[in-house]
Amino acid sequence: MKRFFAFGCLFAAVLLFTNMTPDKPDGEKVYKQYCVTCHGIGGDMGVSGAANLAVSKLTEAERIKVITNGRNNMASFKALLDKDKIKAVAAYTMKLKK
Ligand code: HEC
Repeated sequence: MKRFFAFGCLFAAVLLFTNMTPDKPDGEKVYKQYCVTCHGIGGDMGVSGAANLAVSKLTEAERIKVITNGRNNMASFKALLDKDKIKAVAAYTMKLKK
């Protein structure tokens, strides 16, 4: 019985700990929700002239600018996504590189 209690405490502590880690925006989730329609899952779909993110040479900071303010046919996302989400999705697009 005692052992069950100890185990229960440990389990509760683990749950508490996982809940305490701050909610970091998931760049992949944001990308799949807002960007795949034009850029595609791999970043290279190119709908309505969308830039190929898999070969883009822009730095993360430059991508943050394009995503925040838009450019030509690329929409501005500052009304839809907060800074943290834009940063997370910009970081995610860096990983699409082949
Ligand atoms: C309506 C279609 C559309 C959507 C949705 C869209 N984009 Fe774009 N994106 C474009 C187009 C078109 C361009 C090229 C703009 C240009 O020609 O100046 C572009 C360019 C970019 C660039 C610049 C790449 C380079 O090398 O110049 C980045 C970074 C980018 N998009 C990221 C994103 C992210 C991240 C999202 C989701 C939050 C997103 N885009 C959603 C159409 C879209």
